[in-house]
Amino acid sequence: MEYKYCGHSGVQLPLLSLGLWHNFGDVDDFDVATQMILRAFDAGICHFDLANNYGPSPGSAETNFGRILKENLASHRDEMFISSKAGHDMWDGVYGTGSSRKNLIASCDQSLKRCGLEYFDVFYSHRYDGVTPVEETMQALIDLVRQGKALYVGISKYPPKEQQLAYDILKEAKVPCLLSQYRCSMFDMKAKRENFQLAADNGSGIICFSPLAQGLLTGKYDNGIPEGSRAARSTGFLQQSQVTAERVEAARKLGAIAKRRGQSMAQMALAWVLSDERVTSLIIGTSSVAQLNNNLETLNNLKFSDEEMAEIDAIISDPVLWF
Ligand SMILES: NC(=O)c1ccc[n+]([C@@H]2O[C@H](COP(=O)([O-])OP(=O)(O)OC[C@H]3O[C@@H](n4cnc5c(N)ncnc54)[C@H](OP(=O)(O)O)[C@@H]3O)[C@@H](O)[C@H]2O)c1
Repeated sequence: MEYKYCGHSGVQLPLLSLGLWHNFGDVDDFDVATQMILRAFDAGICHFDLANNYGPSPGSAETNFGRILKENLASHRDEMFISSKAGHDMWDGVYGTGSSRKNLIASCDQSLKRCGLEYFDVFYSHRYDGVTPVEETMQALIDLVRQGKALYVGISKYPPKEQQLAYDILKEAKVPCLLSQYRCSMFDMKAKRENFQLAADNGSGIICFSPLAQGLLTGKYDNGIPEGSRAARSTGFLQQSQVTAERVEAARKLGAIAKRRGQSMAQMALAWVLSDERVTSLIIGTSSVAQLNNNLETLNNLKFSDEEMAEIDAIISDPVLWF
């Protein structure tokens, strides 16, 4: 595994991190979940990305992760970098959602309990909720660090204005923003255009989620929606309406380029996101150890020729593909 420094910090992250949004809930196979965590850790993926609401049911991914840690990796805590987040709908009532201090502080305590941890390596505001002053949310993150419940803080999906304000407040408090988490893939370059340079200029690391567009950039939807795939599952966030003919066709064309490079479509899609020097790490999701192994091989071929880049750009520059 290759590791990269996270912005202007002393923390290194693996180029590939593992996310537990799907496939680790109580609707999923616990043995497969365990095997994926252990395989990832053995391969040097020491960063695991969680959130309070991951499941389903909400919270169950953290509970399962805590059990896997306790049963298999308890003595390795200091070799791991574990994140969680709060801000999306979690529990009933007005305090179970949003970016208020009330939600973040209670949520972090709940998440620590579920994971069986004393602290998170990084705790994020999962989103700017459009209402809560950024000052309130950032103060809650700062206080979590001061209380020893998080070592570092991060923001996720913040629009540019609120992103800059967050960096300024955190910098002032001497709790700089370690990580800025944004969605990025060949089908989604909005954050690349709007948020990456701000993050880089402010010394924050950038970590990208859904780099395979939830599986659309693997070629798996070439012949319809396969049984068991994320788009086929009622608990999956990839809607069948998002599996459009244009995206499937683009993935097929991209797959031909990947083949020439001696890579799977998934590997080329991951390498492409990593080709942006500003990116620290990608958070991948997998539903099997075989997928994880496939994705790990990405690291064997990260370079693109100018011709390959131009060919890829010509395919993905069509806005009809974008999320
Ligand atoms: N901050 C935020 O708001 C936010 C939002 C979303 C995600 N995230 C984080 O980012 C992580 C990753 O997101 P994601 O799961 O959407 O990432 P992704 O890597 O774009 O999609 C993962 C899915 O693609 C399919 N896949 C992966 N590797 C494959 C391969 N080699 N061959 C064929 N199919 C493959 C699997 O779907 P199948 O089920 O079809 O097999 C897998 O579950 C999450 O777990 C979470 O930690 C954060």
